[in-house]
Amino acid sequence: MIRGQKRLNGEIEVHGSKNSALPILAASALVNGVSEIHNCPRLSDVDAAIRILEHLGCKVARDGHTVTVDSTSMHAFDIPDDLMREMRSSVVFLGAILGRTGQARLSTPGGCEIGLRPIDLHISAMEQLGAVLTEGASRLTFTAPQGLTGARITLTFPSVGATENIIIAAATAKGRTVLTNAAREPEISDLADFLNGCGAHIHGAGDSTVTIDGTPHLTGTTHTVIPDRIAASTYLLAAAMTQGRICVREIVPAHLGALLPVLTESGCDITVSGRWICLSAPPRLRRVKMTRTMPYPGFPTDVQAPLSAMLTIADGTSVIVENIFESRYKHAAELLRFGAKISVEGRMEVIEGVPYLTGTQTVAPDLRGGFALILAGLAARGETTVRGVEHIDRGYEAPELILQSLGADVKRIMENGTAEQRNSESAAAPQGSAPTDESHAVAVTPVDESHADAVAAADESHADTSADTPAHDA
Ligand code: UD1
Repeated sequence: MIRGQKRLNGEIEVHGSKNSALPILAASALVNGVSEIHNCPRLSDVDAAIRILEHLGCKVARDGHTVTVDSTSMHAFDIPDDLMREMRSSVVFLGAILGRTGQARLSTPGGCEIGLRPIDLHISAMEQLGAVLTEGASRLTFTAPQGLTGARITLTFPSVGATENIIIAAATAKGRTVLTNAAREPEISDLADFLNGCGAHIHGAGDSTVTIDGTPHLTGTTHTVIPDRIAASTYLLAAAMTQGRICVREIVPAHLGALLPVLTESGCDITVSGRWICLSAPPRLRRVKMTRTMPYPGFPTDVQAPLSAMLTIADGTSVIVENIFESRYKHAAELLRFGAKISVEGRMEVIEGVPYLTGTQTVAPDLRGGFALILAGLAARGETTVRGVEHIDRGYEAPELILQSLGADVKRIMENGTAEQRNSESAAAPQGSAPTDESHAVAVTPVDESHADAVAAADESHADTSADTPAHDA
């Protein structure tokens, strides 16, 4: 439940990347040893990955944001249907299980309903590495009794998940694999860094050609997951929508390279340095003429829904073209409830900015689309309820606590109507912030002098406005 029009102000750290943590957890099943994974976000998708590891026979221990996986006792080679359904990323276990055991059995994966999301590229790649596929009713069984063999593989589309599966499977295959038209997302490099730490020989991850020289024995390692660029982008957009000024620290600004020009075009003032980005929003956002989602380093499809929310209150008409998924505008219908003016035709979304949104009752259609509704609620006049928050918990750690720490009036309501009590045992804590209790309502102070200067500069540029002034009043 959100009472909107509170200006977001302060400084946050975001959690580790969901899209890095999931393939790294999967890859921990490939190695024969103990992997210690730091900065692992506390998300329901990560819980699902841990359940798969445990089903496979790995011993998993969690301590705060550190997950330790001991895969020496791994014995199973199947993923039960219910675990596959929990998230689409379960398919990234395919390469790890096959590489480790020479066989794998799974069904088609679940996850957000954002289009068809086939896995043909994953299947074809495993076949090129020497696996034989047998299809049952709804189960796929892969066998490679002699183990996998390196191959030259060209992806027809730079699929993130297929690139990860190939890198993982090829890491212990016989000989060399050369992958062309690979995805270049930062999460791919993070996965390769983890595997190289385990003794793999992967070169070129993050470029479109990746070479993997297979090595039979990988051992565990210690690895720290990169910060979540999608969560960082989402919170910057939240500040932009509320005439806010925030700094997001301990991130890799280059990973947000495609978002920053969009924010600048909308009239936000952006300061970037070292490991942080500060944003200071204008009194009224401007339209962003055209945004096209593309594979990295293009504009991320995962930020498309949050950006749509922001553009609903920008002055003028904005256009977004979604090039990655064919059906990723489910949030549009929900945003209409706030009084937004949006039309969708095929892959194109046209957003005519309105002076203000009005709070409403709404339902999260999926993970990123769900957070887009929270953004709308933060900017809207009056009260908003977003149901179906379990979608959002898949990818954002304790979002209400982070938003509260920035001054938002938002709380998580249980289905019986009570506000959920969160404490450090039962809930994920935003990293680098105050403990998970009421003190989260207090903005975190800057960590160093240069940072303090940036916050002060941002403060000055807003000296004419008060933190409680309603945002986007017409
Ligand atoms: C990953 C991210 C997801 C992000 C997406 C695109 C994770 C856990 N998830 O998902 O958040 O939105 O990248 O940046 O990292 N495709 C096929 N056949 C395949 C595989 C993919 O046609 O075998 C198509 C998909 O349907 C989609 C496009 O390729 O249209 C991109 O998918 P892909 O890059 O594979 O996304 P994911 O790895 O599923």
